[in-house]
Amino acid sequence: MGKLYDRSVRVVLAFALTLAVSAACVSDLGSVAYKPLVSPVQRCMNLSGALEGPSEGEWGYTVRMSDIDKIADAGFDTIRLPVRWSAHAGKSGRYELDSDMLARTDEIIDYALAKDMNVILNVHHYYQIHHNPSKHERRLEGIWNQLAAHYAAYPDTLIFEVLNEPHTKMTVERTDALNKRIVANIRKTQTDRWILLATAEWGSLPGLIESQPPQDPRIMLSWHYYDPFSFTHQGAEFFKPTPPIGAQWGNEDDLARMTADFRAAAAFRDTHGMPLLLGEFGVFDAASVEERVKWISTVRHLSEANQFGWCHWGFSSNFQAYDPEKEAWIEPIRAALLGD
Ligand code: BGC
Repeated sequence: MGKLYDRSVRVVLAFALTLAVSAACVSDLGSVAYKPLVSPVQRCMNLSGALEGPSEGEWGYTVRMSDIDKIADAGFDTIRLPVRWSAHAGKSGRYELDSDMLARTDEIIDYALAKDMNVILNVHHYYQIHHNPSKHERRLEGIWNQLAAHYAAYPDTLIFEVLNEPHTKMTVERTDALNKRIVANIRKTQTDRWILLATAEWGSLPGLIESQPPQDPRIMLSWHYYDPFSFTHQGAEFFKPTPPIGAQWGNEDDLARMTADFRAAAAFRDTHGMPLLLGEFGVFDAASVEERVKWISTVRHLSEANQFGWCHWGFSSNFQAYDPEKEAWIEPIRAALLGD
């Protein structure tokens, strides 16, 4: 790294800031009437790679309470906790949730809430529902009925996110209808709880702008941003065919495209009058730190200029911001997320 690295990052950051300010102006001009509801989530870290695995630890990471300390102390206000509830619920009847898993999520949630953080609890990697919704939608409703009952007395700094990245047969219409039913079920017992809704097509911009979210003052919408995928997922062996390593990002066209995407998301948010959270964004670790920093800092600045809270994917598993071997933040990534 060194001086050359510092200078190029500074240039990109200055460029990102200019873009961000102009995005803010355009968004103001386009929506003078927009009065953002205040989302409690501004700077969030996905506590990824643990509870959304088949079982915690199987993917090499087990959540430690000291990790939550580090995330809070660094300046994040929220953790998003992805959980593969479908692997910890019965297959019939009331789809009973595994009490050990609930005890584990209690432990993590209680700890983070006591540190004055928000926690977003979601249903992650429910692969079956995306391919066979007619069989699995009722089960997801059953899972949420139990989670809503279990956490009914929790403060509203615990946020529920219905389903991560609906896709394939979870079409826009199907996702909207399911979101609506689950929101109505949760509202039977808790009116103030923030509920985060992802939309179809993997929670991407095209899925978001097609959706018709239910009107409710405490709904937040979510979208995920990994564009261009061939850049952010270079070398990500879990995706086949794996995009080759070496892709670069940051020319004028790249910046213009990203700025336009964020404007489109902001316009949708303004039309619906609901806060919008960028629930996932990040670059796989096979890209150089310099390339990752350019993209991450630009996304972060565009999010903030457009008044979206954001949630980086991920912490120490992959798409890393924290190096578990060195037990230290990857400083340029930390600074891209939290620096000026
Ligand atoms: C998935 C992860 C993946 C990330 C980036 C998340 O929603 O759960 O497995 O690494 O997106 O693709």
